[in-house]
Amino acid sequence: MSGRDELIAIVLAAGQGTRMKSKLPKVMHPLLGQPMVSYPVQAALDAGAQRVVCVVGHGAEVVTKALHERFGTRVTTALQPEQRGTGDAARCGQAALADFDGWLLILYGDSALLTSHALRALIAHAKAGPGPLGLLTATLPDATGYGRILRDAQGKIMRIREQKDCSSDEAAIREWNPGVYVIRASFFRESIGKLTTNNAQGELYLTDLVALAAVAGGVAGLAWDAAELHGVNDRSELVQREHDLQLRIARAHMKAGVTIRDPERTRIEPAVVIEADAVIEAGVELRGKTRIAADAHIDVGCVVTDSVVGQGAKLLPHSVATESVIGAGARIGPFAHLRPGTELGKDVHIGNFVETKKTRVGQGSKANHLAYLGDGVIGQDVNVGAGTIFCNYDGFNKHTTVLDDGSFIGSDSQLVAPVRVGKGAYVGTGTTVTMDVPDDALAIGRARQVNKLGLASRLRGRLQAAKAAANKK
Ligand code: UD1
Ligand code: CA
Repeated sequence: MSGRDELIAIVLAAGQGTRMKSKLPKVMHPLLGQPMVSYPVQAALDAGAQRVVCVVGHGAEVVTKALHERFGTRVTTALQPEQRGTGDAARCGQAALADFDGWLLILYGDSALLTSHALRALIAHAKAGPGPLGLLTATLPDATGYGRILRDAQGKIMRIREQKDCSSDEAAIREWNPGVYVIRASFFRESIGKLTTNNAQGELYLTDLVALAAVAGGVAGLAWDAAELHGVNDRSELVQREHDLQLRIARAHMKAGVTIRDPERTRIEPAVVIEADAVIEAGVELRGKTRIAADAHIDVGCVVTDSVVGQGAKLLPHSVATESVIGAGARIGPFAHLRPGTELGKDVHIGNFVETKKTRVGQGSKANHLAYLGDGVIGQDVNVGAGTIFCNYDGFNKHTTVLDDGSFIGSDSQLVAPVRVGKGAYVGTGTTVTMDVPDDALAIGRARQVNKLGLASRLRGRLQAAKAAANKK
């Protein structure tokens, strides 16, 4: 690639986004867990931009931090101290270009639906044309709010007119400007200083570069599907765009062999990986860097964040897993809560109302009902009875409970950590385990039961009489 073919992107993200009515800068509002601005930035990188300069202003610090975390050094920021319009913002990005002589992609930070496919098509189209500037255009029955594309009698693009500057004839134009441009860096440098604030909003409009390009070789317009080009200006558009993204992601997974029962009500974040033949039921949320292996079944209402679900594992309805690893063939839930640091081996069963945290569970072990397993190391083929609690916290420190292979914990037992139950050992129901149980030992720690024959009816009589006496008073 010669220097003149290289690509740098400028993403404008300094505006406050007044219509969002938010203390958060508009471009930081998340769509499927990712800040809005990360979508156009990612699309630019995927389309071949060597680097991206993001122009920041409102909330510059948070925006810069979010970009740095996600993209590292490929994305840098330039400050627009005062928001004087999109033309001013683009000019603020100029210093970061040094003597760059290739093509610039200029995008807006709220273009959440933009694809690298659209960008590649536009770049090819612009490079094939004679002029210094290419842009996408879209058509809608009603383009209110957007800048309109003005063409001459031959159909050549002459300029863009902002909504607030449109005559009534111009306002009737249905072809609008989505705000996706590719511009020769040399032309950009020559022209960006020529913009004026001579318009209804008193701002420097980036869109005025189009009129300058029209007389400097021509503008290459590429018509594109409006559904990929809408920006976000207010909360209802935010939700609408997020929904569009959600469907786009679900369709891609379905195409790759995943059943998504109800894509309208399933949220899968962009970085999630799902193998073919997994089944995702309605109302599921898969977040962060979650990976779902083949044949896994995620039943209704599960929320899985930054977790790995093994092959053929089943998450029964309304289970929540965060930063956890679930082994192949495991069965979780319904209503299970796997907290960070949970690592479940093959074929483990974690049943309803069981909470785990920072606990390893070996192959084939089971905790089927009502338990808290925190800071545990559980071996293979261990059975944890209903109502078992790992008492892991003394108010100051967390301690570990170890259950060795083949041990059996009777229902309603408390294990006061640090404590170990040895291989094949047996803890009797209702035991409070306060000291280690050796291999193969039986631990029982509860008061011995006595049966007093015939005393039930006498007790009942006494209680009844006492109640009657109290009622008379
Ligand atoms: C802009 C276009 C309009 C187009 C529409 C598409 C201009 C003048 N108008 O209008 O033709 O149809 O987008 O959505 O460009 N920004 C800054 N600094 C500023 C002003 C804005 O960085 O001083 C950033 C914003 O953060 C935002 C982007 O530029 O990400 C677009 O700004 P916005 O105010 O949404 O532009 P529109 O009025 O929608
Ligand atoms: Ca906008």
